Amino acid sequence: MRRPLVAANWKMHLLRAEVSAYARAFPRQLGNPGPEVVLFPSFPLLDGARQAFAGRPVALGAQDVHPEANGAFTGDVAAAQLRDAGCAWVLCGHSERRRDHAEGDELVGRKAAAAQREGLRPLVCVGERKKERRGGETLAVLDRQLAGLFASPLDAARLDLAYEPVWAIGTGKVATTAQAQEVHAFLRSLLAKIFGDAIAQKVRILYGGSMKPSNAPELLSQKDIDGGLIGGAALETRSFVDLVNAAIAAK
Ligand code: PGA
Repeated sequence: MRRPLVAANWKMHLLRAEVSAYARAFPRQLGNPGPEVVLFPSFPLLDGARQAFAGRPVALGAQDVHPEANGAFTGDVAAAQLRDAGCAWVLCGHSERRRDHAEGDELVGRKAAAAQREGLRPLVCVGERKKERRGGETLAVLDRQLAGLFASPLDAARLDLAYEPVWAIGTGKVATTAQAQEVHAFLRSLLAKIFGDAIAQKVRILYGGSMKPSNAPELLSQKDIDGGLIGGAALETRSFVDLVNAAIAAK
């Protein structure tokens, strides 16, 4: 009932020529209807990616957005500028931004709200750190993250979530299927408490953190895992397309 969503987080990788080569190797059709596929390149690659992927079944998103509509914010990018550049999506609250730019839950919520005001769809990342999982605090951390996030006036029907345990990102250490499904079901129950069950059943919750073609089928077979947010394994067309196909096969 939820259309799977497979997203590539290219982080601070790739140059324009590499994006063009990636696009040339990318299929023109992906199943019927197939999953929704979104690419998140760095800002300078957005326009080239838009041209290179024209006619391909992918949407584009940015990796960050400023919470204000415009103004004196040197180095930042506004939601309207992203829409103007061909984006339909924005990644909000990735753990690398939380870590390197001190982004907290309230700010992440304001960024997601700014995206929605411009008609962009936020993909909002949450997830616990290693210390927090070890301390048995995982669910409490996620509860707090969602509460901070939804302090902003967000329309839950126009966003998706990504559960990314920080200790699994770029480490090769993937969450077990049981660990991931437990958290996804918990997140859905929190959404149900805040927004009601009908909305909670519509929000897609992606898993992210060392997902690759070998571990994706099992993760994606879980009831509450609706796709993947993929870093390392999305840097090459071949493994990313394998992941897209795994989503088609699993759902
Ligand atoms: P990874 O990154 O797949 O390389 O672990 C995922 C992410 O950071 O979104």
